[in-house]
Amino acid sequence: MTNNQLQNFLEIATEAALAAGSVLQSFCGKLEEIQEKGRSGDLVTEADKASEAVILEILGRHVPDHGILAEESGKLGDASSKYLWAIDPLDGTTNYAHQYPWAAVSIGLLIEGIPQIGVIFDPFHNELFRAAKGLGATRNRQPIAVSQISELSKSLLVTGFAYDRRETTDNNYAEFCHLTHLTQGVRRSGSASLDLAQVACGRVDGYWERGLAPWDVAAGVLIVSEAGGQVTAYDKSAFEINSGRVLATNGRIHAPLSDALLNVPPLSSWGSITR
Ligand code: IPD
Ligand code: CA
Ligand code: CA
Repeated sequence: MTNNQLQNFLEIATEAALAAGSVLQSFCGKLEEIQEKGRSGDLVTEADKASEAVILEILGRHVPDHGILAEESGKLGDASSKYLWAIDPLDGTTNYAHQYPWAAVSIGLLIEGIPQIGVIFDPFHNELFRAAKGLGATRNRQPIAVSQISELSKSLLVTGFAYDRRETTDNNYAEFCHLTHLTQGVRRSGSASLDLAQVACGRVDGYWERGLAPWDVAAGVLIVSEAGGQVTAYDKSAFEINSGRVLATNGRIHAPLSDALLNVPPLSSWGSITR
């Protein structure tokens, strides 16, 4: 893959993300249809669908022979293609449905299974995060880098809770308490792609989450790596996009955060006593 080819795919992803962002802005506060997708709390709105339709139209025009994995439409296009676009047309649907302005469009391109293009657009703060493999990461076309914080006790983290949280005890609650205790704080933003984008530009020092889909993270993991961060499984082994789990940090707190995630005390140990 030449840099020119990557740059071309980056521009296609950018065109699609910006167009989808306009769709999200136009529907915001005017939603007529908010449905649950089966699992309690997992919402879909006409904005998710309209945003995805715009992205699919643009990709269909530029790269009709590529494969697609889109949150609302599933698998489309040529399943044997080495190119797979992983699309989240609205990451942060719960926020969006409540008019809490923290949501984004996330478009990643995997080439032979490896994230090589990532574009995340937050239309409410007008922030465009982009990366191409080997070419660096930017916010609004200016280079970005992860933070310098090197101690967990001085770090600010972000995480999330998947829609199956009521159906499993592996719901990240114990991890949230443990890391809240060990750091300056743990935020829960409600948009996995924006969580990764905040790691990439140094506003938070690390992010972990379970229960994720490829479209939640395909763009963001590349943007973090290209901004100088580290992306792995919780145990520091290689990141697997289909595992649903990710640990993404500035690199400097990666080992202590991994250790903390592998040694989480039971929830019952958190009471009213400050330790
Ligand atoms: C969700 C958000 C949220 C994360 C969930 C995702 P959606 O995506 O990224 O932050 O905690 O696991 O499913 O449903 O808003 O596209
Ligand atoms: Ca999502
Ligand atoms: Ca979504």
